[in-house]
Amino acid sequence: MSSRSEARNPLFRGGPAPEAQAFTASVRFDWRLLPFDIQGSRAHVAMLAARGILDPDTARRLDEGLAQVLAEAESGRFTPRLEWEDVHMNVEGRLAEILGPVAGTLHTARSRNDQVQVDMLLYMRHVYGRMQERLAGLAGALLQQARAHLDVIIPGYTHMQAAQPVLLAHHWLAYTEMLRRDLGRLDDWARRMNRSPLGAGALAGTPYPTDPEDTARRLGFDGIYRNSLDAVSDRDYLVEFLAWAAITAMHLSRLGEELVLWSSVEFGYIRVDDAYSTGSSIMPQKRNPDVAELVRGKAGRVYGNLLGLLTTLKGLPLAYNSDLQEDKEAVFEVVDTMDQVLEVLAGMVRTLTVDRARIRARLGRDFTAATDLADRLAAAGMPFREAHHLVGALVGRLLEEGKGFGDVTPAWLAAFLEDAGRPGAIDPAWLAELTPERLVAARRQPFATAPERVAERLAEAERFWQGVGPAGGGAARG
Ligand code: ARG
Repeated sequence: MSSRSEARNPLFRGGPAPEAQAFTASVRFDWRLLPFDIQGSRAHVAMLAARGILDPDTARRLDEGLAQVLAEAESGRFTPRLEWEDVHMNVEGRLAEILGPVAGTLHTARSRNDQVQVDMLLYMRHVYGRMQERLAGLAGALLQQARAHLDVIIPGYTHMQAAQPVLLAHHWLAYTEMLRRDLGRLDDWARRMNRSPLGAGALAGTPYPTDPEDTARRLGFDGIYRNSLDAVSDRDYLVEFLAWAAITAMHLSRLGEELVLWSSVEFGYIRVDDAYSTGSSIMPQKRNPDVAELVRGKAGRVYGNLLGLLTTLKGLPLAYNSDLQEDKEAVFEVVDTMDQVLEVLAGMVRTLTVDRARIRARLGRDFTAATDLADRLAAAGMPFREAHHLVGALVGRLLEEGKGFGDVTPAWLAAFLEDAGRPGAIDPAWLAELTPERLVAARRQPFATAPERVAERLAEAERFWQGVGPAGGGAARG
């Protein structure tokens, strides 16, 4: 009945070209804003009534009608109508079907420009809660793995070369630190974006005696924008969200990459649970870590959307321009991507198993004790550079012979040192002391890998993440 073209401003003769209508319509993707649109409208109506701009009876009818539109949309009885262009016109159109002409009073003292901004801000506040939960979920899975393997030592890497032994828990905790910074960035963002634009109207404010502070309070904002032009054209909070997502996705891609490597036959440190692995359609022996690969890959899509929105906003004159409608698909796609990635990665981490025997065997064959042997020589009086050189030569000889430190006998060592022109420089007992346990235990700085230190950090991290989530304080965490 009341299609957009019938309701069209008489300024326009005839309806829109179908391709123009399809091109400009946003309801296909902005429908998800509907609950927030209605929340904003109900606060707006309450303020209009409080200020005597609408009579109480009209306000009550509008409020009930809006509640009905929401219920119909939630139950699937009301579905998007393309001819009504966007979510705002859909809500108003359906309201008009329910209430008749009185529905037309809803848009008093408001424009879609401040309306869409309120909707997006309310939606992003909801996204904030969800992302906090998701970060806490992944951190919880990493902490669980750390707690379960406090006694496992792995080779730590630099340049992807086995470098020095570290606790596996220490390695997982490095990721919860990244997530903690991600959470901090999210909190900063949430605090900054919590301003209401409602009442800015199309761009300049509105001649009605409205009370924007009142709508702001009703909607849980900390206050209002200071400038109406900025209020309707600001999209910084969306760029900041995408930048947050880009950094977080970068962290997750690093974790994803390690899970890919560590689950390979070549490493074999972990086994990905069947529920998070897939087979190859042609090679029967394979267990592919698709989830981890896709986590790694999704970062590209997130970066692309960040660059896309920045490019859309670049050079836009004040105030509202339709270009701004392009913010939605970029942001929604990233919200959905981050939601999925964080959830699936948490499940994958929580269920993976660690192959202790395999890691132990690997640790016995590598030379991650080499630094400590050089340190030991230095402690006995040899300049560190010379000690470094001598241990390098020792490792070179052992590699040639396919041996590890554990294979060195006193006689072999004596012959080697003789050859190297350093007879007696290394006491064979030192080699026996270079166990992974002693090497990690010796690194006792607050952030280092000694088991007591890692246990302290783990307990602290567990306490921190326990309080995280929408109920946990969020932006108030400071
Ligand atoms: N669908 C629009 C958007 O997403 C809503 C605001 C439209 N305002 C306007 N004057 N056309 O940005």
